[in-house]
Amino acid sequence: MPLSRRHFLKTSAAGLASLLWAHQTAWSQAADTLGLKDLYRDDFLIGTLVNVPLLIRQPPELMSILRRDFNALVAENLFKWEYIHPTDEHWHWVYADEFMALGEELGMHRLGHPLVWHSQLPPGLFFDPKGEPLGQSALLGKLENHVTTLVDRYRGRMHAWDVVNEALDTDTDWVPNRWYQVIGADYVEKAFHFAREADPRATLIYNDYDLWQPRKRERLLSMLDDFKRRGVPVDAVGVQGHLRLHHPDLAELETTITAVAERGFRVHLSELEVDVLPQVTDPEAIAFAEYRPELDPYRDGLPPQVEAALAQRYRDLFARLIGLREHIDRVTFWGITDDQSWKNDHPIPGRTNHSLLFRRDRSAKPAYHAIKALKQAEI
Ligand code: XIL
Repeated sequence: MPLSRRHFLKTSAAGLASLLWAHQTAWSQAADTLGLKDLYRDDFLIGTLVNVPLLIRQPPELMSILRRDFNALVAENLFKWEYIHPTDEHWHWVYADEFMALGEELGMHRLGHPLVWHSQLPPGLFFDPKGEPLGQSALLGKLENHVTTLVDRYRGRMHAWDVVNEALDTDTDWVPNRWYQVIGADYVEKAFHFAREADPRATLIYNDYDLWQPRKRERLLSMLDDFKRRGVPVDAVGVQGHLRLHHPDLAELETTITAVAERGFRVHLSELEVDVLPQVTDPEAIAFAEYRPELDPYRDGLPPQVEAALAQRYRDLFARLIGLREHIDRVTFWGITDDQSWKNDHPIPGRTNHSLLFRRDRSAKPAYHAIKALKQAEI
């Protein structure tokens, strides 16, 4: 039976539409099963932390989320000086080696965090065996030994190091910590030189918080300009993402990322979570950090409107980060499930925060689906 041209067009259009529909359905079904790391494959690595319980027990539910959604790892605490190098003679390699083995087994990017910081240090670090405070050259010697030993042990296997953590101060230029007081401001650049020497191929990162604040941004940029001029080997800036639901303004974050990139440094958005609990701003309240029930309103779960606001916040953030992807190598969450978050105990202990993508029962939150949907829409 001869087909009229009109009928032909109609049926072939319908055929094409149904083919397209089948194709799209197959894609969106595939997209449902794709993890974050797959959806963001062309944008940046998607990282998370592992802590010691996860490393040791490797609970199947968490491991399957880890395998599906992430392709970069950082250890939450176990590379910190007090754990890995508790006394001058003693290194605790067991967990660090396990971390490397897990990262290698999973084929994930591995970050060592941090080499030099003023927090989570062993009590005897700044003293000699007689209990006398160390002078400049002795302390610098310790710093060199620590950085060199650690970076050298994992040379060629650790992709990146947070070499110095949280050293910048807006009032005094450098946080007036013990490193600064005894060695001087040079301790920062020295740490980078020691790390470069020990592993010329690892990415060396300066990592800090509140880098979206205009004054802290200025301070960061002046350090980067100075380091660039003098050849201090910094490759990237870790912009810590300790966000709240309505703070900071993401435009400020974008300004920082762009300014860092303009100077030729890569950006890693590190330590990401969104704190949903009432903020304590009064310095005295923070200092005493006392638990009060009115500061812990979501003990029984997040009300739907806060859940929705959290999803929107993550969505807005990722939409911006996608726009900045040419500058960003990695976005790392500071935990997988809400129970893991340090935000349950910081700055006030014992609260129930809901800052990450997965609930305590391991189920994915609307925030997770929201950032997936941003990329699924592209498929
Ligand atoms: C936090 C850990 O998550 C906690 O378990 C620990 O008690 C304190 O440190 N900036 C950093 C991270 O660079 O190392 C900190 O991690 C959070 C703030």
